[in-house]
Amino acid sequence: MGQSLTLRQDNVEAVLAGLTLREKASLVVGAGYRSMLAGQFGFKVPVPGAAGMTRAVPRLGIPSVVLSDGPAGVRIEPKRKGSRGTFYCTGFPIGSLLSSTWNTALVERVGASIGDEALQYGVDVLLAPGMNLQRNPLCGRNFEYFSEDPLLSGKVAAAYVRGVQSRGVGTSVKHFAANNQETNRLENDSRVGEDVLRELYLRGFEIAVREAQPWTVMASYNRLNGVYTQEDPWLLTQVLRGEWGFAGLVMTDWTGRRNTAAQIGAGCDLMEPGAASQIKELVRKVRRGELREETLDVCVRRVLELVVKTPTFKGTPRSGQPDLQAHARVAREAAEEGIVLLKNDAAALPLQPGGTLALFGVGSYELLAGGTGSGHVHRPYVVSLEAGLKAGGAAVEETLAGQYRAYLEKHRPRKSFLSGMVGSPAAPEMPLSREAVEAASLSADAAILTLSRQAGEGGDRHLEEDFLLSDAERQMLADVCGVFHGQGKKVVVVLNVGGVIETASWKDLPDVIVLAWQPGQEGGNALAGILQGRVCPSGRLPVTFPADYFDLPSSAHFPYDYKGKASLVPSGKKHSDEPNVGYTDYAEGSAVGYRAYLGGGAGADGLAGSAGADGLAGGTGADGLAGGAAPSYPFGFGLSYTSFEETAPVYSGDAVTVTVTNTGNVPGKHAVILMDPLLRAFGKTRLLAPGESQTLQLEITR
Ligand code: BGC
Repeated sequence: MGQSLTLRQDNVEAVLAGLTLREKASLVVGAGYRSMLAGQFGFKVPVPGAAGMTRAVPRLGIPSVVLSDGPAGVRIEPKRKGSRGTFYCTGFPIGSLLSSTWNTALVERVGASIGDEALQYGVDVLLAPGMNLQRNPLCGRNFEYFSEDPLLSGKVAAAYVRGVQSRGVGTSVKHFAANNQETNRLENDSRVGEDVLRELYLRGFEIAVREAQPWTVMASYNRLNGVYTQEDPWLLTQVLRGEWGFAGLVMTDWTGRRNTAAQIGAGCDLMEPGAASQIKELVRKVRRGELREETLDVCVRRVLELVVKTPTFKGTPRSGQPDLQAHARVAREAAEEGIVLLKNDAAALPLQPGGTLALFGVGSYELLAGGTGSGHVHRPYVVSLEAGLKAGGAAVEETLAGQYRAYLEKHRPRKSFLSGMVGSPAAPEMPLSREAVEAASLSADAAILTLSRQAGEGGDRHLEEDFLLSDAERQMLADVCGVFHGQGKKVVVVLNVGGVIETASWKDLPDVIVLAWQPGQEGGNALAGILQGRVCPSGRLPVTFPADYFDLPSSAHFPYDYKGKASLVPSGKKHSDEPNVGYTDYAEGSAVGYRAYLGGGAGADGLAGSAGADGLAGGTGADGLAGGAAPSYPFGFGLSYTSFEETAPVYSGDAVTVTVTNTGNVPGKHAVILMDPLLRAFGKTRLLAPGESQTLQLEITR
């Protein structure tokens, strides 16, 4: 009997009983870094570049399964030694753009496309979505995350999970929990009161778990109120499983090695990427009676239950050839719906057809499609803004373009071992003389100026020259606006950024501001579609753009890591009261994002109006903040080329009905955002022709 025992979907218990102690320990410890480094060192693995694998037990028919990043597309090596085929994956827009669509059906299609690529290329579990709350704009990984609001984060994450898992591939919602900064990320203690923790930082995960049952959850690197999340039985067992009914597996984040037995005891089932010493540690502790074998069994059982669900175990055919063209169309559609129009004075957009455009800023020529780190994707191409505009029929001022191209040849960051794995930083901005701006203006009808920001895991953003514009950028903006406006020509600013930047001090200068986020490989086409009027913008902000960084209460409790740079900003205010002291006090409580602008019982000041439906900001002068600060662009803000009217919402039980009518002159989509003043429900219309109406039935989350 024992001889022929082989894992099937219905005999997990029998196989568990047939495992030796060493085999059990090996199943909860991943197979190490071989797959991640396979491209660089030529290791033989099923999927080079996949972040990790589980270990096999061949004698019982237990295969090793493949885990791969990540949020904006599958991150694997695009080329393999000895193979003539390629393994490029579609670069989708970043998380913050996906949530800006307010369209969960569309996010689900993005997820299904990513899931299909994972499936066809041999991946079993996708290490995504990233869904930590955007507590503070300086978090280096905000681009991977969805929103400052837990309801929006949770609903978008649930849609993403449903999409991926519809292809028979698992997800890992991450990083659980309160992982809201990169500074000191392996050790930092997030100190958060339980009410706020549940209301804000756990809420999104709870929604995703309850509504979509992700196959796995990834515990974060950080500590939470003194305990590593990966060793926290309250978090991983009592709350996640006991209260929310999570039925899947919890894995660690990568390299954050802790007390392995304590993790097993807490309900953290899989150590990734895993090291042989952890297997020894477990065996030793069980033998010495320091860890009960039944406790280990609980985790082993969950690993086996995961394995039997995977395409690898089931032998699902893998073509190695996902439909990249179809997925590129989904990436483009998502980008078109998530780009946010922040300013459009005197209907400067859409651009007049047939003109010549002067493109300023290195980002106009080399668009940043996504961020760096494990959220990077080896995509087959990136459509630049220049290429998108040309494909849309525009001419580009070529002398200026030539200067930028020559500059980029010299100053583009060199490819390195690391950038080959996790992407490159942005090129530094090209110094630009006023004479060059004047020369370009003579043969151009309008200017487009792109401001770029790159970020990624392992570091937080800086206030200076990152959240704030650099002096060179301010000069470029002033010169371009001065020269072009002097000739009655328009200036469009494109924000090609992964996170929030300062806008209040300069937003009066240009005629137009378009927030492109990092829009994925089809970004240039999507952006050009909006600028040239083929697409009516319908994105709305999932996060507040504060007027001043220091308006945000969390700014007093976000540690700085200036690496020798001054900790004072020009205003003379300290970047933070708490340099890297090993913990972060979430002392702002629930005053995060737009919640910071809500005075005690005051109306929804600081929020975009939801009833007006024109995407205009609601009231000014919020009273929730000292000094009555209002945001530069509030949560929910976003302009359109048409106008919409919403009927008053009609509530009935847990549903609410709103009818939207396109009252303008061009077809467009509209996101309904209901706030009371907290976000309670949202939805998006289909493309409505002028005069056309649609009734949306939305679900209220209390
Ligand atoms: C990141 C995770 C990622 C993992 C595997 C870690 O550094 O925090 O988000 O999934 O690496 O690449």
